[in-house]
Amino acid sequence: MIRQAIIPLAGLGTRLLPLTSVFAKELLPMNGKVGIEYILDECIDAGIKEVVFIISKNKMMIKDYFYKDSFYKKIIKKKGDKRIISAYRKILKYKKMIKFVYQNKPLGTGDAVLKTKKFIKDKYFLMLLPDDLIIKKNCSKDMIRISKKNKCSVMASMKVKKNNVSRWGIYSVSKRLNKDNFFIKDVIEKPTIKNAPSTNAVIGRYILPKKIFSKLKNLKPGQGGEIHITDAIKKLINGGHKIIGHKFRGKYLDCGSMSGYVKSGIEIAKL
Ligand code: UTP
Repeated sequence: MIRQAIIPLAGLGTRLLPLTSVFAKELLPMNGKVGIEYILDECIDAGIKEVVFIISKNKMMIKDYFYKDSFYKKIIKKKGDKRIISAYRKILKYKKMIKFVYQNKPLGTGDAVLKTKKFIKDKYFLMLLPDDLIIKKNCSKDMIRISKKNKCSVMASMKVKKNNVSRWGIYSVSKRLNKDNFFIKDVIEKPTIKNAPSTNAVIGRYILPKKIFSKLKNLKPGQGGEIHITDAIKKLINGGHKIIGHKFRGKYLDCGSMSGYVKSGIEIAKL
């Protein structure tokens, strides 16, 4: 069973400046609902019971969003508004399942994941990157099923344009399992067009094994001076760990860039 998920939220969000100069991008609304709630709803629907948020002191507003009890209680007592009551109930439901850890320097996704080590109980856990929204199909749910069936890790994947490979983690395939699933031979973070082994990119949904923490422990900074989760995954593969690249069925929305965020809101409004 995969019951725990982790969500790194401690990044700076520079691509969404000026919105992120005073605001956490994960609380930006899309069609009247904040971004992180879409991610939490995907987790809940996939059977996740506990979610670990990795935040920084600069992003305390993410925790505050779920801890406004006395404010809600006061307003509800005064107004008795049904919509507010139901919104508060939903917040309470999320709050019950969220734990917080802190990464105060944004050293990279690998460093962020390492902060969750003491929380992870089972052999495998789910990681979601909140900038990557997948709509119309629950990608996490599908990946959990694939991991259970094949007893291995899974990463969501999609084809990207050749001249965009340097924005992504790119992997090569060792064996095709079926139409949508491939065993991964190697993965490389943000390669140049010349060094990219393919145009298969890793998207922000991962089912990772607990043993990744031992690979993260002494990991040196890589591309761009950051400690990347991709480099720890590469070590896992080199050590013989099996990872499937899963070509997901839903529609991918990039909420981490300004144009992507604007387009995402429009796409979600069409649902
Ligand atoms: P990104 O590097 O893609 O986004 O991190 P960012 O840093 O938030 O934003 P930009 O690039 O400056 O616009 C991918 C995910 O990993 C988290 C981010 O919060 C984001 O959800 N992250 C990144 C961390 O939690 N810690 C880090 O040190 C780096």
